[in-house]
Amino acid sequence: MASVGTAIKKNLFINGSWVEAEKTVSLKSPYNGETIAEIPSANEREVDKGIQAAYDARRTMATMSLHQRAAILEKLAHLLEENKQKAAKIIALEAAKPLSAALGEVERTVQTYKFAAEEAKRIHGETLPLDAAPGGDNRIAYTKREPIGVIGAITPFNFPMNLVAHKVGPAIASGNTVILKPASQTPLSSYYLAELLTEAGLPKGALNVVTGSGRTIGDKIVTDDRISMITFTGSPAVGKAIRSKAGLKRVTLELGSNSAVIIDRGTPIDNIVPRCVTGAFSFQGQVCISLQRIYVHEQEYDTFVEKFIEATNKLTIGDPLDANTDVSALISEADVKRAEEWIKEAKDGGAVVAAGGKKEGNVLQPTVLLDVDPSMKVSCQEVFAPIVLISKISSIPEAVDLVNDSRYGLQAGIYTNDIKLAFDAVDDLEVGGVLINDIPTFRVDHMPYGGVKESGIGREGIKYAVEEMTEMKLVVFNRN
Ligand code: SIN
Repeated sequence: MASVGTAIKKNLFINGSWVEAEKTVSLKSPYNGETIAEIPSANEREVDKGIQAAYDARRTMATMSLHQRAAILEKLAHLLEENKQKAAKIIALEAAKPLSAALGEVERTVQTYKFAAEEAKRIHGETLPLDAAPGGDNRIAYTKREPIGVIGAITPFNFPMNLVAHKVGPAIASGNTVILKPASQTPLSSYYLAELLTEAGLPKGALNVVTGSGRTIGDKIVTDDRISMITFTGSPAVGKAIRSKAGLKRVTLELGSNSAVIIDRGTPIDNIVPRCVTGAFSFQGQVCISLQRIYVHEQEYDTFVEKFIEATNKLTIGDPLDANTDVSALISEADVKRAEEWIKEAKDGGAVVAAGGKKEGNVLQPTVLLDVDPSMKVSCQEVFAPIVLISKISSIPEAVDLVNDSRYGLQAGIYTNDIKLAFDAVDDLEVGGVLINDIPTFRVDHMPYGGVKESGIGREGIKYAVEEMTEMKLVVFNRN
């Protein structure tokens, strides 16, 4: 196996310096269990130093001109583009993300930082004619957006570069500072980011990276009064705990989903099948908008199922560092075990395993389930594994009800040739984003992204994240 991080001992990144941690832990490959690196496991004192550094750097970032912030982000995008093969290998190694998908993630990350550089230049307020209200005569107002201060960013393992970029990019663009706690399984991507941002000229203290136990670091970041905002991507359970402990901090949460697509009669099944296979099995289904539930009109159901299973069985399973691999290991043995238990629960309840269902090491075969009851975990919970279920429906309204019968509401897709049904679905689907004639597993990095219900609070997508990360200040001029 290529060894980007082998035998490397990492240090915490605090106040622009690499600081040796009192304790380190071994980082293991999710694919073969080999040790990849020694990673700091920060204690509360070390996290405190990171928070203080971010707090002390607030003025520097807040007063930095917009073109300077943009220049740092542009340089970062450029450096990442130059080093994209190396960056992709880091992701593939630590997350077991197949190399082609890892490269795709790096390319998206470059885009995300480029969008952040652009947004840095257009953080606008507006003017308000106050004489529209009695009592407002001879007054005019304008608004400006100011950085919120220190942002605590807690990020997941599944997009270790791009979901970090969705927090760090808008934070820098809007003149904030960051204390970043990346997922404990995927710290290397964030340490690499710190290297690149240093080279790009980010002032010391503006980004601090601390790795280690979620409880120690997470609790400190969420409850510390020097931090003004928490931006978190991860599970609903952790999201709810953060919200309950965060006090008056602003909180944005990007949480999970059991995303669905609806396929109407008369739609081009041959084109739709490969999209659905991609949506269900990319990065082993460990994507918040992964396609988990497919509702197919009864007229197309048999054809769709046959073609979907055929395409699924052609996927290449193996080493994430092999460029031909489509599906590799889940992030942990515990996740494989959980996924197996959920498949068993479905089978025991009468569901049919039409493809996959078995594991080898931490690799679970891409699995297709039929005849699944909506109450089964594989349907009503977020599977975050390469498992998809296909159900027969007789009308689009019936399918919309099934999609909505969920704790989650991130994105949903509908394929139909009927424009009225499409518009009705847009109105009726309880989600943050509706994809017409596409799967829910679609994201480009400037679009608003976020969910309703237990899928979260707030929106990412650089422009929208900048809004979340800034305070509006009102200025009123009295001409009298
Ligand atoms: C996520 O898993 O929330 C992110 C999906 C993406 O950015 O494509």
